[in-house]
Amino acid sequence: SDQPRIGLPLVLVGPMGAGKSRVGQRLAATAGAPFIDTDARIAERYGAIDEIFAREGEEYFRVIEREVVAEALREEAVVSLGGGAVLHDDTRDDLARLAVVWLQVSREAVAPRLAGGNRPLIADGGLDRWSAILEARRPLYAAVADLTIDTSRRSVGRIVDDITERF
Ligand code: S3P
Repeated sequence: SDQPRIGLPLVLVGPMGAGKSRVGQRLAATAGAPFIDTDARIAERYGAIDEIFAREGEEYFRVIEREVVAEALREEAVVSLGGGAVLHDDTRDDLARLAVVWLQVSREAVAPRLAGGNRPLIADGGLDRWSAILEARRPLYAAVADLTIDTSRRSVGRIVDDITERF
């Protein structure tokens, strides 16, 4: 077949709204690989993410997120991580040994993508808060990324092609 082969796991990181879930899903389908979205797996096991933040707080969320991420990174899958997963030292250590793509997006392009999402961290601060969080995490994404792609003006298909060419 003409299905591209990619090395697994292949991990997608980046800020909220960069397209990690959409790109991950399409990439996995294209390569015939399983797809894991760590936010979805957290929600399956522990309930809606905004409710976890509201009831238990961010620190608790990071603990269960680390558990789910550690498990996902041991699977032969395309794995999309929540935007803040790179905050955990052990996750960054894991990512140093894996193929990691950093999906970037401009502030202008992300605005419509964030509308309506379940994103407690920016529920109040909106785009300004999104930008502040990104600036704080930029060095963490940069430290783990093997490939960086700006998704602002690229189609999902084109992004998937760029990734399969490299990995
Ligand atoms: C978060 C990003 C979210 C989710 C949670 C916290 C973050 O994932 O994990 O709301 O800290 O950036 P997405 O990046 O998939 O929106």
